[in-house]
Amino acid sequence: MSDFNERFSQYAAEFEAVLESFCSKLDCRPQILADSMKYSLTAGGKRVRPVMMYAAGGLLSVPREELDNFALATELIHTYSLIHDDLPEMDNDDFRRGKPSNHVVFGAGNAVLAGDALLTTACSMLVRECYKGAAQISAAEFLLDCAGIYGMIGGQSADLLHENDPTCDEKTLGFIYLNKTAKMLTAPLVIPSVLAGGKYYSELKLFGENIGALFQLTDDILDFKGDFSELGKSTGKDEREGKCTAVALFGADGAELRADMLGDKCLKILEGIEGDVSFFKELVMRVRTRRA
Ligand code: IPE
Ligand code: IPE
Ligand code: MG
Ligand code: MG
Ligand code: MG
Repeated sequence: MSDFNERFSQYAAEFEAVLESFCSKLDCRPQILADSMKYSLTAGGKRVRPVMMYAAGGLLSVPREELDNFALATELIHTYSLIHDDLPEMDNDDFRRGKPSNHVVFGAGNAVLAGDALLTTACSMLVRECYKGAAQISAAEFLLDCAGIYGMIGGQSADLLHENDPTCDEKTLGFIYLNKTAKMLTAPLVIPSVLAGGKYYSELKLFGENIGALFQLTDDILDFKGDFSELGKSTGKDEREGKCTAVALFGADGAELRADMLGDKCLKILEGIEGDVSFFKELVMRVRTRRA
């Protein structure tokens, strides 16, 4: 196994143990609430965000235990965003993480509540972290800003607003990419920095925003040319829903070209960081060429 694959699997396995412990203690009534939350949390998922957080923690020598609850809160919020994103009133997607979407199994009402529950539980978890000190308060604030109206929710709102909008342009697309996706991939890098006293804060933030935009760009490319069995979610839906994507604006070749340029930019940003950034360099290549 390559060094990158080994490190990725190691971080992901460490996170799975944290998630498993959380799920085993999840005890709420009615049972369908816990079941629907666990269904989406354990349905699979690449765990890119927790892995990035642990890798940044490694770079900045932040002990993993200090990151566990932040990683968990990030994955809970991300999973809630996927459950809501799939709802009939949003992207109307019947498959997620290789399984029927949450609303297909539990119904739309329960899916809304499962998402709400994941978000609220993440908030409680973050508040408890805040008792530890000022750095944890800043880290929690950063994550919630990335998830909220100045982040993912704002981006998702713009994504809906610009469906079937012929005036959607590169600037609007940049806003959508940055907010709906890139911010939730920036938080995993910035949180370890904040906990390490702000080391490489601006470099990691900029890197997160760019690899996050690349992540959405390649997601859009895969929606166009990817494979359902590898992706675990439907393809061709962006075109069907009239989404504003790089493929819609620039064509498939134009999107690939822009992904190459964004990948190069990510690598350039990493040059500003001393220390071993080999994991992140390889991550850029993997995100650029991913099939899932
Ligand atoms: C999917 O995110 C939604 C986007 C931001 C494109 P991921 O591709 O990280 O989904 P999972 O967590 O692996 O299912
Ligand atoms: C990202 O966009 C979704 C979220 C921010 C939750 P997409 O709508 O393209 O994600 P997929 O393709 O459904 O995973
Ligand atoms: Mg969407
Ligand atoms: Mg979607
Ligand atoms: Mg997509």
